[in-house]
Parts: sequence; C-alpha cells; structure tokens
Amino acid sequence: MCGITGYIGDNKTTDILIDGLKRLEYRGYDSCGIAAVDGKNRLYLKRVSGRVDALDKLVAAEPVKGAHAGVGHTRWATHGAPSEDNAHPHTDCSSEVVVVHNGIIENYLDLKEKLLAGGHKFKSETDTEVIAHIVEEKLKSLHVQASAARADMLEPVFFEAFRRAVADLKGSFAISVVWAKCPGMILAARMHSPLVVGLGKGENFIASDVSAFLKHTKRVVFLNDGEMAAVKKDGIDFYTFQGKKVAKEPVTIQWDSTMAEKGGYKHFMLKEIHEQAEAVENTLRGRLLPIGGDILRSEIGLSAEAMKSFSSLQFIACGTAYHAALVGRVLFENFGIAAHADVASEFTDRAKLMAPNTLVIAISQSGETADTLFAVREAKASGAKVLAITNTVGATLTREADYVLHTHCGPEIGVASTKAFLGQLAAIYLLAGHFAAARGRLTGTDARNYAEELLKIPRLIEETLEKEKEIAKVADSFASSEHFLFISRHINYPIALEGALKIKEIAYVHAEGYAAGEMKHGPIAIIYKGMPLLAVAPSGRTLDLMAGNIEEAKARGADVVAIVDEASKKTVKASRYLVLPTTGELFTPMLTVIPLQIFAYYVALAKKCDIDKPRNLAKSVTVR
Ligand code: AGP
Repeated sequence: MCGITGYIGDNKTTDILIDGLKRLEYRGYDSCGIAAVDGKNRLYLKRVSGRVDALDKLVAAEPVKGAHAGVGHTRWATHGAPSEDNAHPHTDCSSEVVVVHNGIIENYLDLKEKLLAGGHKFKSETDTEVIAHIVEEKLKSLHVQASAARADMLEPVFFEAFRRAVADLKGSFAISVVWAKCPGMILAARMHSPLVVGLGKGENFIASDVSAFLKHTKRVVFLNDGEMAAVKKDGIDFYTFQGKKVAKEPVTIQWDSTMAEKGGYKHFMLKEIHEQAEAVENTLRGRLLPIGGDILRSEIGLSAEAMKSFSSLQFIACGTAYHAALVGRVLFENFGIAAHADVASEFTDRAKLMAPNTLVIAISQSGETADTLFAVREAKASGAKVLAITNTVGATLTREADYVLHTHCGPEIGVASTKAFLGQLAAIYLLAGHFAAARGRLTGTDARNYAEELLKIPRLIEETLEKEKEIAKVADSFASSEHFLFISRHINYPIALEGALKIKEIAYVHAEGYAAGEMKHGPIAIIYKGMPLLAVAPSGRTLDLMAGNIEEAKARGADVVAIVDEASKKTVKASRYLVLPTTGELFTPMLTVIPLQIFAYYVALAKKCDIDKPRNLAKSVTVR
C-alpha cells in the first residue's frame, strides 16, 4: 500500500514530512514526494522515482522557506508505472491544489474523461490526479474569489469544495489535500483505506499509519470510513462526508515504532494474513460486474471476443503462485475450458507443443521470478499470447506480457506469500467468471450467483480469521513434530500443497501435500502413530472420498485435523476440526488456505524461527 504523511505546525515541515516517509519505507514503494505551502502561499513540490534518501537530498539542495503545512507520499504503483510524473503528490492545473492518496479510485477513467473535456490538462497516468482536478473544479463552481478573501475566510469554501469532490469518488481512498491559498488547513478523507491523525501541541499530523509520526505523539484519532478531517495546527474537526460534525475521542497508542510498522502484529506475515480480505476486495474492485462483459477490455485490453477465441489455457508459475495456477486449472476446467498448469522451471518442451491459440497465464507476485520469465519467453517464441497476473506494477513480467492483470494487494513484505496468494486467486476467479460467461458457460442466475458468492468472500475471510486463536492452539500441540502431511482433493488439492509449502518455508520441518486419492498408492506407508495430518475436507463432490481417506489415515495412527465446514464436519471422523464458514465448493480454496497459513505461522513461532525472513529464502528468486 502507499504511505501518506501530513503535517501542520511551526516546526520544519519538510523535515517532518521526510522523516515520516522514512518510517513508512517498510511498506514498500517505488517513488515518493512531498509538497508544502510556503510563506507566500506558493506550492513547493519535490518528487523522485526512487528512494526517500534521494528525495531528502533534493529537498536539502532546494529548501523551501516558511512552510507550515504539507503532505508526503510513498507510492506503490497500481495505475501507471513507477516514474517521477506518476509519483505523488499530484496537483491541479493551477498547481495550487495538491493531493496524496492511498487506494484505488474505481471511476477515475469516467472522471478523467469529463475533466479532459472540461479542458483540464493531466500530467500523470495515475487515478489519483483526478482528485486534484475535481477539487479545482469544485472551487471554481463555488465562484471562489480567492484573490479577494483572506485565507481563513476561504477555509469553509475549501472544505465544501473538498467535500463535494469526495462525493464524486468511487472506490477505496485515504486522501490528504492542501490548497496553497488556504495554508492554515489540511483536509483528509477516508473510505476503505486507513487514515489516522496525530494530536500534537501546536501542531498536528496525518498518516496512513501511526508509525509515520509516533515519535512526535502517541495520541491519535483513527478515521472511520465515510469520515473527513479538517486539520489545523491548533485543532482538528471531524465530519461525515455529508458535512455533519462528529465527535471523536483520541486514543493513546501503546506500540513502539517497530511494532507500529507491523500494525501491532508480531510479524509482517501475520499482518499480511490479516490483510487478505482487503487484498481480495481490492483485486475484485470495479472489475467483476457485469460478468462476461467487456469490463476488463479498458483496463487490460482483453475483450469478451478474445476470451472466446482461445482454444485452451496454459498456466505457468513457481511456488505458491504455482498452487494458485493449479486452482485455476480446476476452476477453468469446471467451466469446460481446457487448462494445464506447469511449474515454470519444468515448462521445457511444452512451449512448442501447446495447441494453437493457447493463452498462457503467467502468475508471479514479484513479476521478476527468473524461471517464470524464462518460460514466458519460450511461450512467446512459440507464438502464444501471454496474460500476466502480478502484484508489481512495472515489473519485468508486465513488459513481456500481452495482457497484465494486477492484483491490488499492496507490497508483501513477508517472504512466505499469503495475501499475494489470495490476490492471485481473486484474479483467477475474476478471469474464470468472465471467460466462462463470454463463452456461454456461465449464464443468467448462475452468473449472478457466481459473482455474488465471489463478492462475499472478503467477509468470509474475516470470519475465518476470527478462528486464529483456535488454530494457534492446535498448532502448539504439534510444535515438536518434524513431519506433517496435508491431503485434499479436486480444487483443494493445491491447498494441501500450499499448506505443506508454508510450514516447510517458515518452520523448517518436513511436510508433504498429497492428493488424498494417491495416499493408498504408497505414501500411506509413512504414517506413524501421532503423525500430524491436516485434511482439507469442505462440502463438495469429493467429501465422501475424503472421509474415507481420513478414516484410513486415522486407522494407521495419524493425528488428523480436518478443515471442514458445518455440514462436512458431520461426515468426517477426525481427531480435531477447524470449522470454516460455508461457501460454494468452487470458492473454498480462498478460505481453506487461511487456517493452514495460520497453522504454519504458529508452529514456526513455537520453534522460534525467523518467520518474516526464513533461512535460505528470497522474496523474489531472480536466478534460474
Ligand atoms: C511462497 O511463499 C514463496 N515465497 C515462493 O514459493 C514464491 O511463491 C515463488 O518464489 C514465486 O514467486 P513470485 O510469485 O514472485 O513469482
């Protein structure tokens, strides 16, 4: 996610803004910038496509005088590649309104079209820039005689212009705006993206998370969705988007800055496990309905016609991304669309043997994995079109693919992939729905039900996450185990593989994911008394077979933990159960993986492993 800072007061504004950005660097970013209003009501703007240190040097070389209000931003690109022009803050045509934003403005293309038609000139490819121009428009519509009025008389006008601008926005946003003609006030608004204000003495702060200003104050107010803040140096007022004043009580943060970076979680991995609902929501946002229409055409250039034209799909990926690919294979085949999935490093001769007009889908969180890039080049050389699913704007993979579908998970800091996996699944379910509908395989009420079920998943993920303590307790009972088995079938077989990978990666124990039907063909021989066996067995077409596999394992002494829903729990005879919310069989992977992630985390915690930076592993494997 992007990082936002804001400051208003009599200390050195640019120093405080840059120091705040340094404390947000952990969130991952590709560019950054600050803006401040100087003593002559002029806007001072410095941005770099690079690190905060470079920005610091640039500001030191060309300092601003008399600035008392400003905003800063670290950008994780979602719309528009990393560059200085796309770096925040963004300004309006007059270069008097400046904005920083975290989130996704879903309707930015419509808004931009209207603004361009109204003569506005854009300098970036970002969705954020539209906000500055809309505020400019609203100021004009309020017939602001800015030259005449005193700055404090302009504050109500600035507030109303901003309030009306926010009303035009759809999507997720945490915004801070400054207007050069009104240097005594910074305005902020929050919808589906965190924003917090810090209360100082004769100065106040704004940020996307408290770590940006914790060294200055621990008294904070968290904005809720649908709330705005008018931040002045001697006080802050809060309002609803409708302009109604709201009273909000400050709280005192108990975290130190290290804990603050992890949002109060012990590790980034656990924080990111808890960000999965948001990752799915943001990846689906504005891309699902109408299902099967051309909604993806404008964003990624893939039309419903093109979706009909491909003969089959070929997934290629590595590690966790490969497990997402395996889910994709089952999902697309469920809709009668032929699909294969290969580990990228094994995609050797297959490139030349693919059926004509195969669409290759390459999945990679980093977009830099050497094995995946090599396989993509082989596929391209054989004439295939390539669609990339990646979390990293501007990554090498995005420049080599014909179509790019970004997951909007924000940067994933933990080496073990969690929210990026859920984002990949969300992208795959999105594509499968559109492909199936475009090819007449998903129509009418089925199509509506598919979309509705998918849109429910973020809430069901939150419900699943509420079981963390229960899962942790089960994990603790296996803290000394050195061997684990994970089994499932059909669309959850990849989840068994993913569960095994997670616990291998971070707890350094031997674990195998297996197709449950394969156990009788040999692996059942390894089961010893008390061996931990996690069986993913939600309701569905393979439940009875899974029940049999669990019986067989238990009869040989395995200690079986079954991942079930209320209904399937009645069929399965396990030693212990982790009961998840119920969803359609096809959607279960987006829930069943979560207890396995948490299970792996707590086994690793008990073993005192370095969970965010496991030994021998890199976040992105850029060698073959
Ligand atoms: C997953 O937890 C691992 N970190 C690893 O398997 C990873 O999924 C794999 O290296 C692929 O990375 P990518 O998605 O960036 O291509």
